Formats: sequence, C-alpha cells, structure tokens
Amino acid sequence: MLDDLSDRLDERCACELPQLAQLVLGVDSLSQHGGDEPTLQRGVRLALDHCLIMHASSAFLDSVPGVQLSPALAATGTYPFVKLEQAKRRLAAAGVDLIDFGKGDPREPTDPMIRRALAESLTEISTYPLAEGLPELRSAVAAWCARRFGVGLESDTEIVPTYGSKEAIFLLAQIVVDRESEKRLVVTTQPGYPVPDRGATFAGADVEQLPLLEENGFLIDLETVPEETWERAAIVWLNYPNNPTGAVAPVEFLRRAAELSREYEFLLACDEAYSELWFDAPPHSALEVREEGNIAVFNTLSKRSSMTGYRSGFVAADAELIAALKQYRPSVGTAPQEFVQRASIVAWNDEEHVERTRDAYRRKREALLPTLARRGVRVPGGGATMFLWLEVPGAESSEEFAARLLEHGLIVSPGTFFGPAGEGYWRIALVPTEAECRRAAEILEQVL
Ligand SMILES: Cc1ncc(COP(=O)(O)O)c(C=O)c1O
Repeated sequence: MLDDLSDRLDERCACELPQLAQLVLGVDSLSQHGGDEPTLQRGVRLALDHCLIMHASSAFLDSVPGVQLSPALAATGTYPFVKLEQAKRRLAAAGVDLIDFGKGDPREPTDPMIRRALAESLTEISTYPLAEGLPELRSAVAAWCARRFGVGLESDTEIVPTYGSKEAIFLLAQIVVDRESEKRLVVTTQPGYPVPDRGATFAGADVEQLPLLEENGFLIDLETVPEETWERAAIVWLNYPNNPTGAVAPVEFLRRAAELSREYEFLLACDEAYSELWFDAPPHSALEVREEGNIAVFNTLSKRSSMTGYRSGFVAADAELIAALKQYRPSVGTAPQEFVQRASIVAWNDEEHVERTRDAYRRKREALLPTLARRGVRVPGGGATMFLWLEVPGAESSEEFAARLLEHGLIVSPGTFFGPAGEGYWRIALVPTEAECRRAAEILEQVL
C-alpha cells in the first residue's frame, strides 16, 4: 500500500497533504516494526526528498479524503524517532560516519541456543496459536518468576504470553477502562515510554502524566499526588527500571503504590521490560508485593535476551485479569507463533546468556562514563537499563545539544523526546558496539 501511495505522491510532487499524512504514517509504523524494509527506505527517501518528515505532526494526520480518522490518531502524532531517521539519512548522504545511540533496539546477537530452538521448532504444518499460549511456556515463565523474584504464580491462570510487551501495554486500557465511567483516568509518567499513553488515548480514557523528577530519584512522589487523581484512576502505570532515566524502584516504593491501588481501587500496571539489565543489584518486581494490591506485571524477552524481533513477553496478574486478557485476545490476534514460544522457553530457562548480555552493556557503559565524568557531564540517571540519562551541559536546550552532537556523527535522543520533564537531559541507548562506544568517547572528548 505504501508502494502505491509513494508512486502517486511522486506524481503529484507531494502537494497533497493527506497523501503525505498517509505516507508519514506508513513510514512511522514501518520504522517501528521493520527498519530494513525496502518500502520503508523508499518511503523515507521520498519523504526526505520533499523535506517533510521533520514537519510531520498531528496537523497532517487529521484527514484522509473520504475517510474519517480517529481523533486519537491525531492526538498521538508522529513518533519522535522519525525525526532522527531524517537527520541520520541527510548526514549519511553527506558522508558523515554515524554512531547511533538513538533508538533502544538491541543489536546484540540472540544466543545461538535460542536461535537453534526456533529453527528446530519449525513444523510442516503451522496452525493458529491459542491465545492462552503453550502450557510449557507458561510453566517456564512461572518457574523464572519463582527463581528471580521468589513468587509463586499459578501458570494456568495467572500468566498469559504476549506478542512482545508493547502490544499488551497498548491494549490494557481497552480491557480495564470503561470510557463511560467517572473512573476512566490512566495515569502515566514522563519522561517516559509513550505507549501506555497512546493506548489509553485510543481506548477513550483520560490521561494524566505525572512528572518523574531528579530530586525524587525519578520516582513518582506518591504522597503529593492529589487524592482526586487516585480516585479517578482506573490504571496507574509504573515503569521500573525506567526508560529513559535508568532509575530503579525500591521495594518500599512498590509496596506503597500497591497499597494505594487497593485503597483507591485501580490497577497498578508495572512495565518491567528492563528488569534484567542491571549493573548493581537485581531490581525488585512489583510481583513481590502482589498480595498488597491490584497488580499486573509486563515483562519481555526483548531486552533480556536481545529478542526484539521475536515478539515474546508475558503478563502476570490475578486470575480474573488474566482471564479477561485471554477473553479479549482472540478478537485481535493470537499468542506468539509456536516456534517463537518454544524458543522463548529456552530463553526463560537460561541465565548465562543474560549475564553475558549484562556484561556487554556494562563494558559499553564503562567505555563512555569516564569521558563523560572528565568532561563534567553529570549522570543523574540510575544504574539499570541499556540507557544513560545525562544532564545537558551548559545553556543549550536538549534538542540544540542533540543537534550539535549529530553534526559530529553522534545520534542521541534529546530528553524532550520522552516528554517535557525531559528538558535539560539527553539519553544514550547503549546499542552500538563496544568499539563504536570507544570511538564515541573520543568524539565526546573533543566536543564536550
Ligand atoms: C519501557 C518499555 N516498555 C516496553 C517496551 C516494549 O518492548 P517489547 O514490545 O519489545 O517487549 C519497550 C521497548 O522499547 C520499552 O522501552
């Protein structure tokens, strides 16, 4: 479809904004789901020819001739990383050697043992996977949660495999929020991962973003949130270890949030995608305080096992919520493909490859941190995730600073990509190779 559209757009010299809106939308969604697609490259090239991705915004996305678009689509706008893609291509075309610390898509190899398990699970006939997932996978997840967090989950009723965690995070508000109810608020945090907010918007919920401030260790200050917010909340999202700040939540914080969820009758939804990327002590999970509140935990193999492309995660929660997820799921899709589920069992059962992954990120941190310290860059962020959350030195805004680094070949994210509370900060995603991190350190030595 993008193919056809781009040809038509070519002919019309990009004069028609609705077509451009579709193109941008197509590029946006493809860029999130398959960066190497030839169509994506073609779409981006075409849009770049017309210098327009930079300006893609909700203004372009509110009309398609003869078709009514959801206002939620306009409200969500374009993923900020599309902007980086444009700048990247412009500089690459000018011959600048780029090191990309932008998107948090791991480029570590998936362990051969996991890849082998996938290949060996390919069957001659492949039928629809059941929404509830393979019992062996649910058992492997339950066993992992028991080993890692000391919690006992009932694998048949309290766990459901998901297609990565993003989709489940997006969809949760459709299952848990009644848009006609007074209690239809979804509370999220910023700077943050935008998906819970977007999912809530599409579900017709109200969204309130609470700021994560450095003086509070990038935790919500639970005691100063107005009671009225808790009363209206259907879901409160937490994401620890946190993207982008790297902050880790102490178990007392999780316990207090759990108590509030019980007192005010909301679901505490905990996105723990980065729970295994730590460099100090293993972070706690909200599963550890599940007896004290209404809790749903989302986790994934994407970061732990460098398996973003496989799409494999899970939700763990009380049996009633899991039953609701299982009831909803067949309307929109299935569990991951069975060969992915079988590879996932191998991944959840092994910790050695995860230790190697942590070591790889640790070495990359160590390649950069001494230079940053020498150049006086403060590191306010925490000690987990694949991200470094850094203070912008001097008087530049986050975006100005990121634009300056870009001219020297370093792609980083300005803090404002993650919400207004990100002003004054920048994020490095430690996804380039260790050698590239060392080269980046040399560049930063000159530029900072
Ligand atoms: C905070 C956070 N949660 C969840 C995800 C989703 O990961 P996946 O859908 O690959 O499991 C991401 C991906 O970047 C993330 O940053």
